Amino acid sequence: MNYTMSLNSFNLLFLFLFITFLLSSNTKAQNPTHLYQICSMNKTTSNSTYKSNIITLFSYLSSNATTNNEFYNTVPSRNISNSVYGLFMCRGDVSSPLCIQCVANATQRLSSDADCSLSKQAVIWYDECMVRYSNTSFFSTMATRPGVFMMNSLNITNQETFMPLLFDTMNKTADNAANSSVGAKKYATKEASISGFQTLYCMAQCTEDLSQQDCRTCLSDAIGALPQCCDGKQGGRVLFPSCNVRYELYPFYRNLAPSPSPAPSAAPALVPPSTSTPTLGGSSGISSGTIVAIVVPISVATLLLIVGVCFLSKRAWKKKHDSAAQDPKTETDISTVESLRFDLSTLEEATNKFSEANKLGEGGFGEVYKGSLPSGQEIAVKRLSKHSGQGGEQFKNEVELVAQLQHRNLARLLGFCLEREEKILVYEFVANKSLDYILFDPEKQRLLDWTRRYKIIGGIARGIQYLHEDSRLKIIHRDLKASNILLDGDMNPKISDFGMAKLFGVDQTQGNTSRIVGTYGYMSPEYAMHGEFSIKSDVYSFGVLVMEIISGKKSNSFYETGVADDLVTYAWKLWKNGTPLELVDHTVRESYTPNEAIRCIHIGLLCVQEDPEDRPTMATVVLMLDSFTVTLPVPKQPAFFLHSGTDSNMPTIQISQSTTN
Ligand SMILES: *[C@@H]1O[C@H](CO)[C@@H](O)[C@H](O)[C@H]1NC(C)=O
Ligand SMILES: *[C@@H]1O[C@H](CO)[C@@H](O)[C@H](O)[C@H]1NC(C)=O
Ligand SMILES: *[C@@H]1O[C@H](CO)[C@@H](O)[C@H](O)[C@H]1NC(C)=O
Ligand SMILES: *[C@@H]1O[C@H](CO)[C@@H](O)[C@H](O)[C@H]1NC(C)=O
Ligand SMILES: *[C@@H]1O[C@H](CO)[C@@H](O)[C@H](O)[C@H]1NC(C)=O
Ligand SMILES: *[C@@H]1O[C@H](CO)[C@@H](O)[C@H](O)[C@H]1NC(C)=O
Ligand SMILES: *[C@@H]1O[C@H](CO)[C@@H](O)[C@H](O)[C@H]1NC(C)=O
Ligand SMILES: *[C@@H]1O[C@H](CO)[C@@H](O)[C@H](O)[C@H]1NC(C)=O
Ligand SMILES: *[C@@H]1O[C@H](CO)[C@@H](O)[C@H](O)[C@H]1NC(C)=O
Repeated sequence: MNYTMSLNSFNLLFLFLFITFLLSSNTKAQNPTHLYQICSMNKTTSNSTYKSNIITLFSYLSSNATTNNEFYNTVPSRNISNSVYGLFMCRGDVSSPLCIQCVANATQRLSSDADCSLSKQAVIWYDECMVRYSNTSFFSTMATRPGVFMMNSLNITNQETFMPLLFDTMNKTADNAANSSVGAKKYATKEASISGFQTLYCMAQCTEDLSQQDCRTCLSDAIGALPQCCDGKQGGRVLFPSCNVRYELYPFYRNLAPSPSPAPSAAPALVPPSTSTPTLGGSSGISSGTIVAIVVPISVATLLLIVGVCFLSKRAWKKKHDSAAQDPKTETDISTVESLRFDLSTLEEATNKFSEANKLGEGGFGEVYKGSLPSGQEIAVKRLSKHSGQGGEQFKNEVELVAQLQHRNLARLLGFCLEREEKILVYEFVANKSLDYILFDPEKQRLLDWTRRYKIIGGIARGIQYLHEDSRLKIIHRDLKASNILLDGDMNPKISDFGMAKLFGVDQTQGNTSRIVGTYGYMSPEYAMHGEFSIKSDVYSFGVLVMEIISGKKSNSFYETGVADDLVTYAWKLWKNGTPLELVDHTVRESYTPNEAIRCIHIGLLCVQEDPEDRPTMATVVLMLDSFTVTLPVPKQPAFFLHSGTDSNMPTIQISQSTTN
């Protein structure tokens, strides 16, 4: 049922290919070795703008392979649906000539292959590199589909001891890859001795745009797939769009670490195992052009596909960070709902019986406590106020839907508790509290230099775009503000409190509501005054957030400075005066890039324009942030926002004007 549809959609493709490769020849791997490619069934036409943008993208990728081992780029288009996003990644140890060759060969192959040349999305894997493109932005987003499994056909002899060693070594390799310092390749290799004669070689790599956590999650998924892929085999790999792992009993990568060996730089590329190595049993060598794909009969393939689907859906709730999956199931799956359920006793224990000491704060919907599960995992527990106006069944269904919204810029909902009078939501815990806590603190705000602020703006934009467009639920947040932006250990923003209107049973479609949930200073005028909301109300709030992040000043207490009535008006005045950079926070005056700051202010002003129609969509905002070549329209005057002094310190408000209609 669900898969007929899934198969149409590239992003949802649970396609796991089992490819066995035979080790035969012993040729040196000088040419890039092609492995596999997956191209979407959705096609463009040969004379389309999209196709010509793909060609431009390929030329960018190929030319940048000379300077980089990893690079991503966007070819923007005036019509967003023609924009193309692309990325290449060379294996961490690959020399630059080989990387260039690999990317050139990959893009050429994609352009000339009959099945791929007109595909809207594609991923191609080589031994040495990977190239991927799509019509949707996938940067900083983890994707574990489509995937390819490959195994070495040789059997391992001592399986009982081998598999634990493999997982242990792989886990450590994955830790190292994910823990690479910011800006470095997310690549690691590790060796382990199996016995006196045999060595296990492991490699793991993620695309650099992933966060540490997403990288580790992706690699965990890949490692978790090894038993399905390669149980009992001497070598195997799991290739995902965002990460890949590989192990063999021979060295298949160049060791980059300074080595005590007398000839550390002797090998230009790979170190092909010598035929005389006894452990390879005579058949050895890295086959360069000799990978043989054994075509799995259709029935077997179907079976494996089903196994794959079951395997994945079983773990779906826990790992769906994968926003390439962008497509939550809508059927209620009982076992999934139940897997989200927490016992009240567990949560009481975790939070020390909701003790005052564990309290993190109080939001519009209830109190939030820090907790720690027996497994050691830290959680944030939101205890909803008693009268949430919704029955238990419906609440449960909504939790399940909201839990499926997973994106690296959304706080992850781990589950819920529905017991006695309690309705509780359980979220992942993030280390750095919320944006307001750091941004508006004279001391702490120094932690947010310009680069971080710029990244935070981009992350928030992508998170909202996901809520608005990419998830099937089309969530309007309605209460975006600095205290709802959480920051993880790496200062990555995570939007929280999304889906609250849904959880509280408020109509989600665009319309007029008698119940206003929002915060003064962030609410769009049409929402504050008339209760009319749409995705453009969130765009307005985003614009206000941008101004706050740039200026380090609170929107709703700005009047105190006496310069202008509110932050938005102040920003507008500076813009009209031609001095927009005066808005920039003094603490980042050293670190900021004027062009980026002006562009952010410009985008912020576009978002707070009075007429919702004039405000850009979040997809457009993301595109504007990603690419400096998109020209921005001239902003119109923002809404004149009426407020009296008493509004300004008002926290989140919930006005329930009527319960009778
Ligand atoms: C791909 O195209 C088919 C029709 O050709 C369509 O039914 C399907 O929804 C498309 N997939 C996506 C992801 O749009
Ligand atoms: C592309 O070419 C086809 C015929 O090959 C034609 O029908 C179509 O109108 C063309 N599209 C554009 C955008 O030129
Ligand atoms: C790299 O990509 C950019 C586009 O972002 C392009 O302008 C440039 O020519 C490419 N090549 C090199 C060598 O930088
Ligand atoms: C954008 O392009 C798509 C497909 O090429 C087309 O269907 C759509 O009408 C275009 N939109 C605009 C505003 O030109
Ligand atoms: C990308 O292409 C798919 C398939 O044609 C389409 O459904 C989707 O809307 C496109 N995404 C964007 C952002 O244009
Ligand atoms: C890519 O590799 C294939 C096979 O090794 C080769 O035939 C082709 O010429 C290569 N293309 C480029 C551009 O290197
Ligand atoms: C590996 O083991 C399987 C059975 O577990 C056997 O069918 C297969 O022939 C073996 N392969 C090799 C290369 O020894
Ligand atoms: C490897 O890590 C996974 C979780 O990421 C864990 O379940 C597994 O037990 C670990 N294996 C070893 C041998 O440490
Ligand atoms: C990786 O980094 C995290 C935090 O940065 C740390 O908790 C963890 O112990 C590190 N792991 C390894 C293997 O260094």
